[in-house]
Amino acid sequence: MTDIETRNRLIAAAREAAGNAHAPYSNFAVGAALLLTDGSVVTGTNFENASYGLSLCAETVALATANVGGRLGDVAAVAIVGGAIMGGRMHGDAPIYPCGRCRQVLNEAAQIGRRDLTVHCASADGGEVRTHQLSELLPHAFGPADLGL
Ligand code: THU
Repeated sequence: MTDIETRNRLIAAAREAAGNAHAPYSNFAVGAALLLTDGSVVTGTNFENASYGLSLCAETVALATANVGGRLGDVAAVAIVGGAIMGGRMHGDAPIYPCGRCRQVLNEAAQIGRRDLTVHCASADGGEVRTHQLSELLPHAFGPADLGL
């Protein structure tokens, strides 16, 4: 697979996950898909709660799921797709970037795995993808390395 095919496969997985978002309060669906070093994919979606502050972001859910399989240190890339839910579908032309908390949680995987993560930020309408390294999105990060891991 070319890099673009791998990227597109990851975005498609994130988009599919977003279809299961539990987001009745914000009406904003987000899907995240992690690419692991063996080529497998782990997904997550936002999981809101009636006690709003307890809501979980898609990236955090995906990373916790990877950890359940013992794969936190094997994350190589992540794709994020999101948009407002209207008529049962996600809409929006802006690429969705991980929130500050999710950047920090992604950094946990990056440092445990000793690799920078590629972050693909995609728009709901599929028109735009921006690709970054996590180290650009969270420079000078505090993480496991600071605690001797
Ligand atoms: N959200 C994510 O899932 N990931 C992010 O990085 C940004 C925000 C979710 C949280 C909430 O359910 C909805 O998007 C609106 O903020």
